[in-house]
Amino acid sequence: MKNRPIPYRSISDAEVERYAEVHSYPESDTIQELIRQSDDELEYIDMLSGPLVGNLLQVLIQISGAREILEIGTFTGYTAIKMAEALPEGGCIETVEMNLRYQKIAESHFKQFGFDSRIKLIKANAREYVINLQKMYDFIYLDADKLYYEHYYQHTLTHLKKGGIMVVDNVLWNANVLNPSDSKSMSLDRFNKLLVEDDRVDQLLLPIRDGCTVLRKR
Ligand SMILES: C[S@@+](CC[C@H](N)C(=O)[O-])C[C@H]1O[C@@H](n2cnc3c(N)ncnc32)[C@H](O)[C@@H]1O
Repeated sequence: MKNRPIPYRSISDAEVERYAEVHSYPESDTIQELIRQSDDELEYIDMLSGPLVGNLLQVLIQISGAREILEIGTFTGYTAIKMAEALPEGGCIETVEMNLRYQKIAESHFKQFGFDSRIKLIKANAREYVINLQKMYDFIYLDADKLYYEHYYQHTLTHLKKGGIMVVDNVLWNANVLNPSDSKSMSLDRFNKLLVEDDRVDQLLLPIRDGCTVLRKR
């Protein structure tokens, strides 16, 4: 297997990040196999969230006891399965993916690793899907379509239970939000500033990997 990529210019020192990974609990055998297969199936797997973010999701789910989870951006199913591993009995995850190839790969991973009853793959454009959400969630993970984070945030926050948690990945965008000059970094910078002003949430921007915001709905 190729070395697990650090896809973005690491906002922390790459060696420090690797040290943090090595000194955090390891990926399960299932997840290691999923990464191996994803690596074989695709030319690039740099869209996989890293192990620190994956473990953060698991720990937050375990601490909060979240049962109903929504994920925007499935890719090959890495974080969906990470979250499913931490789910309590009876919990379930909806994960939204619009790319046909990734849908197929994720679907086969969910089945192969025995998570197809706990993970529901929504084959849709998430921009439209979030407009018609039908239920309330305990936990939401945003990890797709960075130009539209504000759209996802506004539509999903109203479907996050009071006390529920949202995690948003890539909010530092390769540190480009510090001097935003392209559309994605400008959009992410606007999004980060919007959260600071939003009195519906308490939020914490963690400088791990590509920047990861954890927020709790008041
Ligand atoms: C960063 S990847 C998700 C990675 C995944 N959470 C993981 O860590 O394994 C983002 C995914 O979102 C999908 N995506 C992008 N825009 C989308 C949209 N509007 N609706 C649904 N899926 C979208 C992409 O095809 C891609 O697979």
